[in-house]
Amino acid sequence: MADILNDTLRTLLDSYVAEKFVNEDEVLQWIQTEAARNELPAISVRGFEGRLLQMLVYISGAKQIVEIGTLAGYSAVWLARALPANGKLYTLEKSSKHAAVARATFDRAGLNRKVELLEGDALSSLAQLAPRNPFDMIFIDADRPHYQDYLKWAADNLRPGGMVAAHNAFRSGRVLAPENDDDRFVADFNATLATDKRFETFVFAIGDGLAVGVRK
Ligand SMILES: C[S@@+](CC[C@H](N)C(=O)[O-])C[C@H]1O[C@@H](n2cnc3c(N)ncnc32)[C@H](O)[C@@H]1O
Repeated sequence: MADILNDTLRTLLDSYVAEKFVNEDEVLQWIQTEAARNELPAISVRGFEGRLLQMLVYISGAKQIVEIGTLAGYSAVWLARALPANGKLYTLEKSSKHAAVARATFDRAGLNRKVELLEGDALSSLAQLAPRNPFDMIFIDADRPHYQDYLKWAADNLRPGGMVAAHNAFRSGRVLAPENDDDRFVADFNATLATDKRFETFVFAIGDGLAVGVRK
């Protein structure tokens, strides 16, 4: 099957947009270098996907965000920088190694007041966060088998008009013909989201696809 994300024109256009509209500053570059130095997997959002997330925060006026899956804090920095001064990003990470790198990231980015990292399994951290609802935005970028659980939590804890967004909706094109369990979990998640009456839904065909739902 053709890999639509490696399509030449698409790749050229992504580079064009990144060059013109994505300012990956010294801190964002440092995060990726630090992640590689600590041998973290290179699975963060890409620069222009980070910028898309940031634009969604600006457009929606989100003040309270939950991110599921921190890694080294790359997407968290994009999100948190778009928050107003009194905004808060709760970012959830189960790996203590990843969490340690992310803490260094938030120090370096000067974002400790806006970002709170909850170390541990996301489902227990979400239960801990629920009393602080309603949230304005939930970004899902972690273990695929739990995407449906995270969607349920989002439906229960977003304000009306709040947004859930899930990374890798395309699985590099494999969502069209799933090849492994994670592909199937994402295809199922997309199908559930598409017909979920609690949300207005769509997939932004940017990067590896960002599935979004706006809570009715
Ligand atoms: C794709 S990476 C996140 C990338 C990050 N959002 C970015 O773009 O910079 C997924 C992260 O989720 C974490 N993770 C996986 N399962 C988790 C779980 N059940 N609870 C919390 N974190 C989890 C992994 O350890 C990994 O760091």
